[in-house]
Amino acid sequence: MKTATATAHSNIALVKYWGKRADAPPALNLPAVGSLSMTLDGLRTVTTVAAAGSDSFSLDGEAVSGKPEQKVYAHLDRLWASAHETPRPRCAVTSINHLPTAAGLASSASGFAALTMAAATAFELDLTTARLSEFSRMGSGSAARSIFGGFVRLDAGEAADGRDCVARPLAGAEDWPLRLVVVQTTRGVKPVGSTEGMQASRDTSPYYQPWVDTSIQDLDAAQAAIEARDLPRLGAIVEHSCFKMHACMMATVPPIVYWKPASLGAIHAVWAAREEGLHGYVTMDAGPHVKVLCLSLIHI
Ligand code: DP6
Repeated sequence: MKTATATAHSNIALVKYWGKRADAPPALNLPAVGSLSMTLDGLRTVTTVAAAGSDSFSLDGEAVSGKPEQKVYAHLDRLWASAHETPRPRCAVTSINHLPTAAGLASSASGFAALTMAAATAFELDLTTARLSEFSRMGSGSAARSIFGGFVRLDAGEAADGRDCVARPLAGAEDWPLRLVVVQTTRGVKPVGSTEGMQASRDTSPYYQPWVDTSIQDLDAAQAAIEARDLPRLGAIVEHSCFKMHACMMATVPPIVYWKPASLGAIHAVWAAREEGLHGYVTMDAGPHVKVLCLSLIHI
């Protein structure tokens, strides 16, 4: 094997992914709904995979242990096993997250996309972007979208093996220079991780099935709004998808409420500014921070 380094950028979903297909093997990590995202040039992960005497994983200079470490090795195993029958060589994985200090933003999207690209090159796999997206998805669903820049759509697909659940670019970042302003509302880690939260919503939320059933409309409408470069139209879908997902989360038993008082304050501040003519639209993920989709030249 070779030593390889790859960079991947994080992304934020404009049409959200929340829930996994119940009929598929968990290892494929197939989403129950498609999603659509915007890749962020300001947030990135740089990962190096090199041969070593034993497996190790360090993030921002610190050794990582437990579940996150095991997920990284399992990802290396599946990439290696896709082309080899021999045991996988031991690897040193070194990742650096370039995120604004303490932004509290999830990095699994850029993390698994960078790991997939670095390991594929280190193992000399020569994968297409579709296969890179497919492997990234197995690490983390949102990572499938970070293989591309700009606006990216990931369809849920129907194939039992997930081959048709790969991301594709809709438009480049330069085609429509939108911005995403992150309002950091708290510090610290989120209480419920996405993977377990999705599982709980699927098992207990009465809004889960309606959420799944209506997602395709949002995807198609968002894609059309991007093609038309129509921000008010896209913004309305972005907010609808976000609040529908959070309604599904909140109706989970026990409830999953990521919002903090400051989150609601930020949402209302954006809406008040919108009354005065600002084209800003809010979205939130599995955490308390509020992200505002807007044009590049604005003053809040
Ligand atoms: C709310 O991709 O982190 O950010 O596939 O279980 O790793 P796993 O989940 P993950 O979930 C992201 C959920 C979300 C919405 C989104 O990014 O689409």
